[in-house]
Amino acid sequence: MPLPKAELHLHIEGTLEPELAFALAARNGVTLPYADTEALREAYRFSDLQSFLDLYYGLMAVLRTAEDFTELADGYLERAAAQGVRHAEIFFDPQAHMARGVAIGTVIEGLAAALDRAEERYGVSTRLIMCFLRDESAESALATLDAAKPYLDRITGVGLDSAEVGHPPAKFRAVYEEAARLGLRRVAHAGEEGPASYIREALDVLGVERIDHGLRCLEDPDLVSRLVRDRVPLTLCPLSNVRLRAIDVLEDHPLRTMLGVGLMATVNSDDPAYFGGYVGDNFGAVRDALGLGPDELRTLARNSFLASFLEDDEARRERYLAEVEAYEFGAGGA
Ligand code: ADE
Ligand code: ZN
Repeated sequence: MPLPKAELHLHIEGTLEPELAFALAARNGVTLPYADTEALREAYRFSDLQSFLDLYYGLMAVLRTAEDFTELADGYLERAAAQGVRHAEIFFDPQAHMARGVAIGTVIEGLAAALDRAEERYGVSTRLIMCFLRDESAESALATLDAAKPYLDRITGVGLDSAEVGHPPAKFRAVYEEAARLGLRRVAHAGEEGPASYIREALDVLGVERIDHGLRCLEDPDLVSRLVRDRVPLTLCPLSNVRLRAIDVLEDHPLRTMLGVGLMATVNSDDPAYFGGYVGDNFGAVRDALGLGPDELRTLARNSFLASFLEDDEARRERYLAEVEAYEFGAGGA
C-alpha cells in the first residue's frame, strides 16, 4: 500500500498520455505532427520550460469536447489513486483552450464530471484551481476570470503558470485582487526558472497562500526565514525540475536541505505524462536519490494535507492526517 498523500501541483493537461492523445486525435479528426506514440515520446527531450510549453500547448489541440476533459481527468485520478493520492488540487489552463475555440464551460463541466465521481470510484477528494497564463496579458486574465464567474461554485482558487521569466507576479495584481474579492484561494508558480524576488512579489503583491515550485528561494536567506516563519507551503516537483533542466540531476535537488531548514515542502508531479512519473514516482525518486527515510517521507505526506485547501472540511483533513500517522513503511514504501 502506498503512503497516503495529497497532490497540490498538477496540471490536468500535463496528464495527457501519448496513447490518449492519439485516441482523441482520431476521434476529433485532428492530425498530430508525430507518426505515433513512440515518435511523440521521443520529442520529450526538453531544454527548458519554454521548450516543454511549446509541445504541451500544441498537443492540447486534441482536447475538444467535455467528454475529452472527463476522460483526461478520470485517467489521472485512477493513476493517482494507485500511487496513494487521497486528495488532489488540480490546475487547469482555460486560456489555452479558449484560444482554440473551446468554451470555458466545456472545460469546467468536463473536468467536473470526472471529479464528481472520483471519491466514489477512486477514494480521492478533489478541488479545481484555475490558472492564468502569465505570458498572456493582464487583461486576458481578467476576461478569463469574468468568463469563469458562472462556474465559481466549482473553483476553489486561482493560480499563475506558463513562461515565468519576464512575467513577474505584479503584472497580475488586479486579477488576484478580484479573485480575493470573489473568495477564491490564491497560489502562483514562482521561483521555478524565475528569481527569488518573484516569490516575494507573489506573497506581497498577489497575497498567495502557497508557492508552486519555489525552488530558487534558497538564494535569498531572508526569504527562507520568512517562508519558514509563516509556514508557507512550497509545492515542489522534483522530476519536473530535472526534465526542464532547472537542476542537472535529482541528487542535486534541494528538497532535503529545504526540509532541514524547516520549510514546508511538499512533493508533486507537475506534468506527469511528460516528466517520467506520477506523484508516487516522484516520492520514490527523491527517496532513492536523496536517501530520505520514513520520517522525512511521512513529513512530506503530512505537509501535503496540512497545505491543502481543506478548510471547508477539517474532519476530512484529520482523517487523512491520521492515515499518514498510521502508515507502516514496508521495504521501499513511498
Ligand atoms: N504549465 C504546465 N507546467 C508548467 C510548469 N512546470 N511551469 C509553468 N507552467 C506550467
Ligand atoms: Zn506547474
